[in-house]
Amino acid sequence: MEENIATDCIVIDDHEQGYDLDLFCIPKHYIEDLERVYIPHGLIMDRTERLARDIMKDMGGHHIVALCVLKGGYKFFADLLDYIKALNRNSDRSIPMTVDFIRLKSYYNDQSTGDIKVIGGDDLSSLAGKNVLIVEDIIDTGKTMRTLLAMLKNYNPQMVKVVSLLVKRTPRSVGYRPDYIGFEVPDKFVVGYALDYNEYFRDLNHICVINENGKLKYKA
Ligand code: HPA
Ligand code: MG
Repeated sequence: MEENIATDCIVIDDHEQGYDLDLFCIPKHYIEDLERVYIPHGLIMDRTERLARDIMKDMGGHHIVALCVLKGGYKFFADLLDYIKALNRNSDRSIPMTVDFIRLKSYYNDQSTGDIKVIGGDDLSSLAGKNVLIVEDIIDTGKTMRTLLAMLKNYNPQMVKVVSLLVKRTPRSVGYRPDYIGFEVPDKFVVGYALDYNEYFRDLNHICVINENGKLKYKA
């Protein structure tokens, strides 16, 4: 009997060509800087709607604190919460949700120790007893998330789950996999939908692959 391979997300394989830029609406200021449209905005939204349902099934029984990891997570966070709110207002039972926003600064001084500093957000002790949902744009090596999770554990939340829109397939991965994943992507640099390259391309709806021209133009 042929065995089905369990999939927990949409897997975009290494040979995926994406779509020609001319088939979509791309801001004129970026048209020379992108290779292809990789994940169209509509597909991001459709996948996000389903993630909202899966998350509420697991976490919907108790006060949720949705923790947005800025800046890259802001679009996904806003759209995900809109879908969760839609579920809540159309359901017989719903629970309150509060939000918080953090930025993570990693220290890469001596070959990436994985040390991070949490900037902004409320006092983390307010997470005690709560169901915490961390919302990320992309998991690359997974090092940062592993460190953040270890840190949050000290504040005694009832539950911590991580949702990431993207997970990169990379040999640099420490093997960490979030609880909920939108898409698994090849080891290429992607931008758009709040993911940036040196702060640019956040103002692009679709997730796209940047080209050499773009890398050069917006080099730090
Ligand atoms: N794009 C944007 N930000 C990132 C990426 C990426 O591919 N990988 C890690 N951070
Ligand atoms: Mg991020």
